[in-house]
Amino acid sequence: MYNAKYIVPGLVLFLLVFSAPFLLSGGGTRIVQDLAPPLDKSGCVEDRLFMASSHMRLLSFWRDQALREGKREYVSGSGKVFAISLRGTCFSCHADPANFCDKCHLVNGARPYCGDCHQGFGEGRG
Ligand code: HEC
Ligand code: HEC
Ligand code: HEC
Repeated sequence: MYNAKYIVPGLVLFLLVFSAPFLLSGGGTRIVQDLAPPLDKSGCVEDRLFMASSHMRLLSFWRDQALREGKREYVSGSGKVFAISLRGTCFSCHADPANFCDKCHLVNGARPYCGDCHQGFGEGRG
């Protein structure tokens, strides 16, 4: 068993350091109306401002955790535990990624290549 006491602040610190410039600049993200609402409205993995500006960094961190470190669980800033899984976690709440992820990406000119392998979003980007 690892000592969660030491791991959690480490993660939060890591994420804050990585996203500080983006949080400060607001990520330059254009607001998009009419995104598909999440099924579970209790809240995201991290808070909305963090997610809006830094979900891409959270996802690369998740990928490295899963594939390089073999870690399949993430402890959020508020201490909730989430399975590290696009499909099992992100898409369980954002169940209509075409009208959530893709819709916002389109407006903001972001074109993640993830859908080449991960079913659900970013598919068919010309
Ligand atoms: C070339 C194919 C490929 C591409 C492109 C790709 N992935 Fe993956 N990804 C994989 C494979 C294979 C796994 C391992 C699945 C497993 O072991 O559960 C994985 C696992 C993951 C995981 C952890 C487990 C899971 O099922 O969610 C995350 C998070 C993830 N990838 C994010 C991304 C993101 C974000 C992008 C785009 C920036 C991306 N991947 C692009 C192939 C790919
Ligand atoms: C338990 C349900 C749940 C899970 C799991 C979840 N989300 Fe969320 N997500 C939400 C809710 C609810 C909101 C709106 C939060 C708010 O308004 O405070 C949200 C907001 C967001 C936003 C900001 C949208 C905007 O309008 O600014 C992004 C981006 C996002 N989520 C991406 C993700 C990604 C990527 C994952 C997986 C790593 C994920 N979410 C996992 C429920 C979830
Ligand atoms: C509110 C708008 C918004 C929503 C909703 C959103 N994204 Fe994004 N996403 C962006 C923006 C803007 C970028 C580009 C940011 C940048 O380049 O710094 C981006 C970039 C990404 C990237 C990195 C792409 C790259 O090529 O580096 C990934 C991966 C990603 N988003 C995954 C997701 C997933 C998965 C969801 C749905 C669960 C989602 N996003 C929902 C706005 C959004």
